[in-house]
Amino acid sequence: MNFDLVISGGTIATAADVVKADLGITNGRIVAIAEKLSGGAQRIDAGGRLVLPGGIDAHCHLDQPQAPGLAANGAVMADGFRTGSISAVFGGTTTIVPFCVQHRGQSVTAAVEDYHRRAQGQAVIDYAFHLIVSDPTPAVLGQELPALIRRGHTSLKVYMTYDAMVLSDRQILDVFATARQERAIVMIHAENHEIIAWLAEKLEAQGRTAPSQHAVSRPLPIEREATHRAVTLAEVAGVPLVVVHISGGEPLDEVRRARARGLTVIAETCPQYLLLTEHDLEAPDMEGAKAMCSPPPRDTAAQAALWRGIEDGTVDIINSDHAPYRFDRDGKLRGGMNAPFRKVANGIPGLETRLPLLFSEGVIKGRIDLSRFVALTSTNNAKFYGLHPRKGTIAVGADADIAIWDPEKRVTIRNENLHHNVDYTPFEGMEVQGWPRTMLSRGRVVVDNGELLASPGDGQFLTQNTSSAWANERGIKSWI
Ligand code: URP
Ligand code: ZN
Ligand code: ZN
Repeated sequence: MNFDLVISGGTIATAADVVKADLGITNGRIVAIAEKLSGGAQRIDAGGRLVLPGGIDAHCHLDQPQAPGLAANGAVMADGFRTGSISAVFGGTTTIVPFCVQHRGQSVTAAVEDYHRRAQGQAVIDYAFHLIVSDPTPAVLGQELPALIRRGHTSLKVYMTYDAMVLSDRQILDVFATARQERAIVMIHAENHEIIAWLAEKLEAQGRTAPSQHAVSRPLPIEREATHRAVTLAEVAGVPLVVVHISGGEPLDEVRRARARGLTVIAETCPQYLLLTEHDLEAPDMEGAKAMCSPPPRDTAAQAALWRGIEDGTVDIINSDHAPYRFDRDGKLRGGMNAPFRKVANGIPGLETRLPLLFSEGVIKGRIDLSRFVALTSTNNAKFYGLHPRKGTIAVGADADIAIWDPEKRVTIRNENLHHNVDYTPFEGMEVQGWPRTMLSRGRVVVDNGELLASPGDGQFLTQNTSSAWANERGIKSWI
């Protein structure tokens, strides 16, 4: 058998196994895994390296058209599909799933068409879209979403906060009912909108408007309450649920309690909740805005609780929640140098640093093994968002999306070395061990030793199958 490419001598790690073996790749797919493979029009020596399925970042925001209330004062995202995908692949990721947002009054179908135009010819790696539903009209619920889900947009996101996005409990139930009918998977941003508004008003009345007060206005109990409510709504409607960007132990306990009741609840966290704290929001001269995201980073106890959840299997997926706002007048400082925290765009960048940070803090520090690292950052995302087994694993028949990873490489994270279009990283100066050397997308080398070898437009749009969360649907009962 001849191959287009053989990757030899590496240690292959999947979510199930770690084995020393060669990989044979033809026509962009993995066609052979064996102890030794000869031949190959091209050969890559991966001796001393790990051969991993490319990462899947299933929570990132790119070129998202803004509505007031999400990004205060119309701040614009600095990364679209070109710089976002380039940054992702330099950090070990080969598939991205950003959000196509439906704004109020807009048709979701029109939003999808617009988002396809934004992505067209831009991405260097493959991509799919989640659909944010902010206006669940009868037409959206009854016609548009069913048609889009059947066309392969099988994941939705709803918000319990942000003026422009928040849905009432009743509206969330409506979206869940459509998701149940069409077997879509719903992601939820769980924070209690009313409590945030009430606290923010009190803080502003006291003149407490600095970025640090963002964290005070969104304390952990409001996330715990919203997580409990979200899970209850999913329980009543009879749908599996993904609770995104969990920031501490209390909402994680709600996930555990739901699972103990037999519910299918998937838990996501992000590197910022493992590595930053609310003190990062206290930096002077508005610099604290560089760590402002929602939910906010908490404290070291919350970090420890999240690591426990990663170790004991409660956390299923770790994504970046890359939300790229520059520290300038177009981004974080849209409202000026003294803008109150409510006028600062929420979100931080992290597409490129997600895998190195988790590999270093997780695998190198002995908190998780390699297979768990792969599951958390790639395989589980592929399964939950209907991309498996084409993506997220190393198996015969899968796309040859591969990270050839140097587990010894030491890097001090510096924004000047990253490839996003954001002018800062909240992880500046952190030291990590482990970084990808060579990246393949569908069998083609797209990054090698710091050089980009792909062109915008090489990435393809992916339609999604039904989420694996629906696999045991007979266990998902409904009150409707
Ligand atoms: O602060 C955040 N997370 N911004 C991005 C939007 C979201 O809620 O995921
Ligand atoms: Zn969110
Ligand atoms: Zn997000």
